[in-house]
Amino acid sequence: MSEKKKKEGGLAGIIAGKTAICTVGDGHSLRYRGYDIYELAEHASFEEVAFLLLYGELPNKKELEDFNKKLFSFRILPQAVREILKLIPKDSHPMDVMRTGVSALGNFMREKEDFSNQDEIALQILGASPSILLYWHAYHIHKKELDFESKKDSVLKDCTAKFFLETLHQKEVPQLWVEAMNVSLILYAEHEFNASTFTTRIISSTLSDLHSSVVGGIGALKGPLHGGANEAAMELLNSIPKVDSVIEIMQKKLENKEKIMGFGHRVYVTSDPRNVVIKQWSRKLGESVGNAELYDKSEVIEKFMWESKKLFPNLDFYSASAYHFMGIKTEYFTPIFIMSRESGWIGHIFEQRKDNKLIRPNAEYIGVGDRKFVPLEKRS
Ligand code: COA
Repeated sequence: MSEKKKKEGGLAGIIAGKTAICTVGDGHSLRYRGYDIYELAEHASFEEVAFLLLYGELPNKKELEDFNKKLFSFRILPQAVREILKLIPKDSHPMDVMRTGVSALGNFMREKEDFSNQDEIALQILGASPSILLYWHAYHIHKKELDFESKKDSVLKDCTAKFFLETLHQKEVPQLWVEAMNVSLILYAEHEFNASTFTTRIISSTLSDLHSSVVGGIGALKGPLHGGANEAAMELLNSIPKVDSVIEIMQKKLENKEKIMGFGHRVYVTSDPRNVVIKQWSRKLGESVGNAELYDKSEVIEKFMWESKKLFPNLDFYSASAYHFMGIKTEYFTPIFIMSRESGWIGHIFEQRKDNKLIRPNAEYIGVGDRKFVPLEKRS
């Protein structure tokens, strides 16, 4: 048993609904639609997993080809969305760029009120999301507009991991990176009633549209207690200059009652099953780029946190170093989480819509008792 003290509140431990999409914390396993996350991470592509989350079954070859063809076609952003992205300041947070980008998409290809084009909209959001970040990045960082049209061959062909990494870096990247990113997208894709997924379900329970629900999910994911933890974990690693200083710095942080980002979990008690997978990839990537120090620092932090607080790394902790080794800017870590988790969100939105009931819980009132209204001029 963990010694981690659980606080009441935050709906901890409350069953807030039913789902057939994912099991979290059932033993130590994580399953998407019955499939073990370890098997999916080893054998599947992110696109197969996205199909599974959306439609309940793994696709056959033909289904996957059709799915990918449609998905990849949405990487070519509408011109109006490109214009909007150009207007977003260079120093905006990329999570805000994603939020605005997905919201903008909804104005140019709307979901019908009877949701009859929901499949099309789902693929539009999933397909276009990497391009939103990439377009804004290229425009502001490299001062160039991404030319999706003349590069159609690769834009419409490569898997999400390769498309994202190679468009970001504007060059071929090692196959190891593509594999690592593919695994990371699978690990991040779905996690039951986490804060952002629950947000998307609440929004869709009002019969609102997919874009609005996903934009709400992005807002919830941005916070450092949720998706923003991967960015915050990298900041933690950066704040520690070398392996030798880990213990002293970490001790101070705990004395100051600081939250250590990338550690702990609301549902898991002794470990996050996704950690062993991403940790291996982080090690491999670190070795491949000749940066052992960052990985070593991470391991010392992990050991220290377990010995001092019985807290374990969650998926975000080693995702931070893994992404760093692939040359990705820290502020892009959580947007990558969006690109992946959108598949889980949309699976949940579809599920919510199938048997919808407005999500509207009650609150326990703890405010003052009844009192008489005092007119403004009589208030002291
Ligand atoms: N660093 C330091 N202490 C932590 C901690 C962390 N990352 N996570 C939990 N704790 C401690 C709390 O300080 C608290 O101790 P206290 O009772 O002495 O005050 C106790 O453990 C319970 O924490 P609490 O935040 O109430 O539990 P929770 O179930 O609400 O928290 C998280 C779950 C994920 C929000 C929490 O572990 C956290 O903030 N982690 C860091 C952010 C993160 O990595 N988020 C991504 C999650 S996948």
